Amino acid sequence: KNTGELRIHESVDELRTDLADYVAELSEASVKERGVFAIALSGGSLIGLMGKLCEAPYNKTVDWSKWYIFWADERVVAKNHADSNYKLAKDGLLSKVPIIPSHVHSINDSVSAEEAADDYEFVIRQLVKTRVVSVSEISDCPKFDLILLGLGSDGHVASLFPNHSALNEREEWVTFITDSPKPPPERITFTLPVINSASNVAVVVTGESKAESVHLAIDDVGPDGPLIPVRMVQPAMGKLVWFLDKLAASKLEDS
Ligand code: 6PG
Repeated sequence: KNTGELRIHESVDELRTDLADYVAELSEASVKERGVFAIALSGGSLIGLMGKLCEAPYNKTVDWSKWYIFWADERVVAKNHADSNYKLAKDGLLSKVPIIPSHVHSINDSVSAEEAADDYEFVIRQLVKTRVVSVSEISDCPKFDLILLGLGSDGHVASLFPNHSALNEREEWVTFITDSPKPPPERITFTLPVINSASNVAVVVTGESKAESVHLAIDDVGPDGPLIPVRMVQPAMGKLVWFLDKLAASKLEDS
């Protein structure tokens, strides 16, 4: 099992610095190798935790013009709605650094959840063709340079919730749900095959309410342990890194 690399931090501030360093390093490596950096964001506390990227030195050293931005999941609401993951990222990050607007691939907010998912998959297919997004050698899925995930206390990542049929999707790259247990109910989400085809996946988690899910995901809880969604994040070829603060790591067995 690919449990990944654990980066446990004494404080949230330390985590924020390490996360900014990590993203900046992956951006540099990817631009060097491919000329572009295809990064997928999530919603929730993640964007705030990425805040140092808007500050010195990162705001000057990162090659923002090479960034192509995607979302691992989005709520099906207007782009200017308080629940929009796009709005969260725009206000907290994208508007503060010189990203090229046409590189920001947000979700179509004027159609149904089903159409928004189809449209998003279509957009990604075009960008795979032009190699803005790489392609996985083993799954034919897009191979994002980095997918950033938050973690819900119930163990969900992106909009893949416990016991939901979306977890079983193997064909589509992007799927939709209309019954999210965390509001709002309508969402679109990357599927597990896409998440697990990425070059790098980072799961960023702070706070005690997530500690049990972190334990279930990382410790060997045996085949009978609850199969929460984050346990299914198992990049096939890519690298998985956990960014945890002390509280999120507090129920891990050997820490
Ligand atoms: C969403 C998010 C979701 C989030 C987790 C953690 O749109 O709801 O993408 O997957 O990352 O729920 O959220 P918090 O970090 O705010 O707890």
